[in-house]
Parts: sequence; structure tokens; C-alpha cells
Amino acid sequence: MLNNLQQQPADALLALIKLHNEDPRADKIDLGVGVYRTGDGATPVFAAIKQAEHKLHETQVSKAYLGPEGDMGFVHALMPWIFGKQDPSMGGRIDGMQTPGGTGAVRLALALAKRAGVKRIWMGTPSWPNHAQIVADLGLELKTFAHSTADGVANMDAVLGAIAEAGADDAILLHGCCHNPTGIDYSNADWDKIAAAIKASGVLPLIDLAYQGLGYGMEEDAYGLRRVLGEVPEALVAYSCDKNFGLYRDRVGAVYVMMADAAQVNAALSNGHALARAAWSMPPDHGAAAVRIILEDEALVKTWQDELDQMRERMLQVRARLGAAGKQGGVDFTPMGSQSGLFSIVPLTGEQVLAMREKHGVYMAGSGRINVAGLTMNNIDQFIAAVADVTA
Ligand code: LMR
Repeated sequence: MLNNLQQQPADALLALIKLHNEDPRADKIDLGVGVYRTGDGATPVFAAIKQAEHKLHETQVSKAYLGPEGDMGFVHALMPWIFGKQDPSMGGRIDGMQTPGGTGAVRLALALAKRAGVKRIWMGTPSWPNHAQIVADLGLELKTFAHSTADGVANMDAVLGAIAEAGADDAILLHGCCHNPTGIDYSNADWDKIAAAIKASGVLPLIDLAYQGLGYGMEEDAYGLRRVLGEVPEALVAYSCDKNFGLYRDRVGAVYVMMADAAQVNAALSNGHALARAAWSMPPDHGAAAVRIILEDEALVKTWQDELDQMRERMLQVRARLGAAGKQGGVDFTPMGSQSGLFSIVPLTGEQVLAMREKHGVYMAGSGRINVAGLTMNNIDQFIAAVADVTA
């Protein structure tokens, strides 16, 4: 029976981690999977997390089960950061549950949408490859539109067209900030139009906020989400703490549901609890508990915010250097200077991406996506020269 299972290719992005580790070249450059790196190329545990973990170690008296919803103190502590300090639950219309990372949040949000009767998911492409995989795995239909134009700006005609065409059984998946993989975000004026269009069409918005704080700041990066939620009767939000708390492998995320009132939200979330119970029973506790401890402690919030500011500033420096490189070989780096978050796309062919790896030891996704944080003042010239070489 089990030999009916055919060999599957390894996940292309995650496979890069292993390939890079196995490469003996001292000057190799890892621009693959999206983890933040310091100017020394390290991905350290946040100081705020270390302190919170210490506190957790001292104060935690039990590891007995919680429930499928996970740590609701964590879920609620995040809400003012996501939905605004004024009225984080929008009068009881928003609540959520903890999930295993951002992937768990997207998975649960889409599974909830499916249970509610959603048949089709609209999504701008390119997108994070796992989005389409999850949609397919759930047996939902995927409808795509172009996320950006050849000029390197968000394709507003495409997104507004998709929203207008979407029906009552449809949902639209939008990246809240720091678009993965293009780094091309909607401007605030774009979000105003998107929010109005979603209101008019009735399509269910699912906003994936996986990089809050890595674009322009925690408040700034929530603009689009808050605009949309301010207009529509219902929405789903998938949230990740992987990047903005550096908790990657600890798998810390949350899914939020916004509906007309608290009773409806409770009913929707009871479905989330049932889905979680059948899939992973309950999410891992440790990382979420550390986030909660930070968010409940003013001094730790300050430490965390300072670390986030430093990350953003370093990425801005790298982007400034990329942008200033202008045209090198066949690639114009200028747009990368003003894009946002961890990622940008270098327009390379599959063969050129391979040549970057084999000839120059530069590891990047097959789509040409680079993790900008993998660039440092020590390797950026080497990277640009490699791009110029393979595109010459
Ligand atoms: C990425 O896109 O590199 C990250 O979101 C990590 C992942 O799980 O793919």
C-alpha cells in the first residue's frame, strides 16, 4: 500500500538551507530562506526573547496542556499591535487563536474559509510558494492575478479587477506588508482603494501579516490591514511572529477572525478549535509564552522595539547600497532600493540562478528572490559582481 506514495521533490526553498550548509566555499552567500541576518551574517536570538525565556524558566510551574486555542494571553497581547491600541477587538468583533507559525495561521484561515463555504481563493502572483500549496492541499480553487507590473510597482488594475470579479463564494489573499517575494507593497493610497473595492464586492479578505515591523514600522505596516478591516463586515488575518520576534523554528503565529459580533466570532473560532484539534491538537507553547512575557512588560517591549528598529535600519542600508548600484550587467538594481521588507526579485533566468550558485556560491530561490538581509557590507559588492557576471 505505502509504495503507492511517489517520491516528491524536496521543498525548493527549504532545500537551499542544506545545499548552502554543504557548500565548503568560505565566501558563499546565503540569500535563500527568509531569516534576518546581522551585518556579521548571524541570526541571533533576540535579547528580549532571551530575557523573556529566562523569566519563563523561572516562573513556569507546569507544562500541562492548554487547549486547541493555545495561549490566549499571547493571542490578546498581540492584538493592540495588529489592530490598533484604540480598540483592538473593534468592540468585540475580533478574536483569535494561536497557531503553529504563520504557516499554521494561513492553513487554519483557509480551512475556516473553506468550512464557511468559500470555493475560490484569489491571489496575486508571484506569492510565497506555500500559499498556493496550502490552497491546493485544501482542495480550493486558485485564481491568480499579476501582483506587480513590469515597471516594478503594484499592479492596481489587476488587484481591483480581481476584487470586482470575485464572487460571494470567494476570498482574496493579500500580503499585509513586505510582499514576499517581490518587496513591492501597496501604498497607503492603494490600500484605501483596495478597502473600498472589497467593501463593494463582498469578497472575503484574508490578510497575511508575516513581517510586521520589518517594512516601515509596527504601526505603519498595519495600515493596509486596518483600512480593510475598517470597511468590511468580515475578515480573516494570519499572523506570524517568526520574523519580528526571530522565533522561526519555535513556530509562533495566530489566526484572527473579524465578524459582526462576539457571538459570531466565538462560533467561527469553535470551528478553528475543532480543525486545530484534528490537525495538531494544540500549538507549541514556548515561543508564544516568550512573546506574551515581552508584550506584558514595558522594559522588554522597549528592548524588542529597539532590536526591530536596528533590523529595519540595517535592511534600509543594504537596500540603499543595492539601489545605488544602478544597472550592472543585465540587471537594474535601482528598484530594490525602495522596495520593502526582507525580499526582492532579481530578474534572472533559472540557468542564471543556477550559475549564481555553482559559479559564485550565491544561494537564492529559483524565482530570483533574494533575502536582502543575507547581504552585508562585506559581501554586497561580490553579489552585485556575480549578478553582472551571469547576466553579461
Ligand atoms: C520564506 O519565505 O523564506 C519564509 O517565509 C520561510 C518559509 O517558511 O518559507
